[in-house]
Formats: sequence, structure tokens, C-alpha cells
Amino acid sequence: MKFDAFTYAGNFENLTAIQDKKNYVFVKGDICNKEQVSEVFRKYSVDTVVHFAAESHVDRSILGPAVFVQTNVVGTNVLLDVSREAGIERFLHVSTDEVYGSLGATGYFTEETPLHPNSPYSASKASSDMLVLAYQHTFGFPGIVTRCSNNYGPYQFPEKLIPLLIANALNDKAIPVYGDGSNVRDWLYVEDHCSALDVVLHKGIAGEVYNIGGNNEWKNIDIVKLVLNEIGKPESLITFVKDRPGHDKRYAIDASKIEKNLGWTPSHQFKKGIQKTILWYLDNKPWWERILSGEYIKYYHLQYSERE
Ligand code: DAU
Repeated sequence: MKFDAFTYAGNFENLTAIQDKKNYVFVKGDICNKEQVSEVFRKYSVDTVVHFAAESHVDRSILGPAVFVQTNVVGTNVLLDVSREAGIERFLHVSTDEVYGSLGATGYFTEETPLHPNSPYSASKASSDMLVLAYQHTFGFPGIVTRCSNNYGPYQFPEKLIPLLIANALNDKAIPVYGDGSNVRDWLYVEDHCSALDVVLHKGIAGEVYNIGGNNEWKNIDIVKLVLNEIGKPESLITFVKDRPGHDKRYAIDASKIEKNLGWTPSHQFKKGIQKTILWYLDNKPWWERILSGEYIKYYHLQYSERE
């Protein structure tokens, strides 16, 4: 059963492949609404929760932090309370490497790295992680936390770097690169993230945190050049714009715990994953064109018009 508020990034077109499955039900609802959540738990006898529901875009959290606190902190707290009351068996909290803050030129985030969130988004995710772990510690609640690095792949909303870059390149539009483009992210194909979550759901231990990452660090500017080259568009599309306030310099995950303890490793090689992703956006132009022509356009102007 999928419970989703269907805010700006929600899209029924993303669900067509599963909509006729016998074990699938969609319920529109808000994790901040305890009545709604409790009703769904009763109706479907929920025993396992995989908690993906979050506001997730750093730039939006800079434009307006409140909704991040509401959904990510208050919403997680409601889900925890209802899950605890229902006596569920498993609660997998899907979080982010951004809770660890920013790295210098060397080193990796391990599960023991102290939390040092730098954006309203990452602060809200760190808060929700702490709640899950505190419920586990205090109440013996069956909560597990995963912290993943940057995802890319099909169906990604075009506010994130890679789909924005592909869509702009295909439309011969400027590619906005924040600062000097030297910030580093560790990229993982979305299906590898999903396979890791599946492994943690089935084999993870309550109270534990598992980092998930691709061991695949790239400077933003190098990804931009790679994608432009793959698509056959000129580097003259690159436009350096004002940096993101508080922009974290580098993320890099040490995923040895999930590899050693649960036997998970990513299976997608980056260059192939990027080619697959570009092909998907080429084959699904109407999907992202509908997004670009709708409500999202207002955000795009708000986000980028002041930057150039
Ligand atoms: O690390 C995991 C996190 O990755 C997730 O928890 C977040 O939900 C997800 O949004 C992502 O956060 P980032 O801020 O790293 O992703 P984003 O795609 O926004 O940006 C990736 C890098 O590219 C970052 O250094 C900022 C830069 N950037 C981004 C955009 C949208 C640009 O230079 N230009 C852009 O237009």
C-alpha cells in the first residue's frame, strides 16, 4: 500500500507500471494527519513501514524551511506514534548522507560520523533520524535508518541536478552550475538504492544505521560536461550562477557496513547508468515537458532568475 500526499513531485504517470498489481493500493493522505494515518493502518493491518515521505530538495528548504519541519519532523513523529500503537514489525526510515554535513577533500561518512546538518532540509532529516533511533532505544521500536548519497535515474523530478541538466540540454537552455562547479557528490543509480533498501528491510537490525552509496564521486562540473557530451550539446550552455547559500562542499559515503554485514553492493556502472537515464528522458519527453509547463515553472523562476 502506498500512502502519499501527492504534493508537487507526485505524479500518477510514475505509478502506471504497478497500478494493476494485486498487492498494490494507493491512498492519498498526509503523514502529518494522525487520523488519516491511523485509519489506513487499521484498514490495511499495516505491519511494515518504509518511510520515504519527505520534502527532499535543498534549494526549496532555503526558500521556505517550515514545510520541511512539518513534513519531515512532525510527519515522522506521527508515523512513529501510529506505528508504535499498531505494534508494527518493521519501520525503515529512508534518510540521507546530508545529515553528516560536508567533507573536506579527503575522508568518508561512516555511520559513526557525528551529525552536522547544514541546510534546513538536512536539519529536518537529522531530526527525524534521531526520533526513529530514540523510539528504538526508549521503546524497543523496530526502527532502522538508512542514509543514502545522491540518486539519479528515470522518473526523477527535474529540479535535481541530473534531470534538470538533461532537460535543459535537450531544450538548448542554459545549464545553471552553482559557484565554480567544484562541489562533489557521490552518485548512485536509483535501482541500486532500491535494492539496498530491500536488503535492509529484510536483513537489517533494528536500531542500526546503514549508509548506502555508490563509491562514485564526481565534481558537478564534470557531470555537466559528461552529460552534454553524451547528448551532443556544446559546453557553451554551461552558465555559472550564484552559489547555493551554505552549499556543502563534498559528500562521500563509506558503504562498507552494508556491504560486509548485509552483502549489498551497487550493480550499475555510472557511465552506463547515465546513458540509460539520458535515454529514458529522451524517450519520455512528454513526461517532463508536462512538469516543465506546469506549476514547476513558478519555482524555476523564483530559484534561478535572481542568480544570473
Ligand atoms: O545526498 C543525498 C541528497 O542528494 C538527497 O538527500 C536530497 O534529497 C537530494 O536532493 C540531493 O541533494 P543535493 O543538494 O546534493 O542535490 P541537487 O540535485 O539539488 O544538487 C546536486 C549538486 O549540484 C549540488 O552540489 C548543487 C548542484 N546544482 C544543483 C542544481 C539543481 C547546481 O550546480 N545547479 C543546479 O541547478
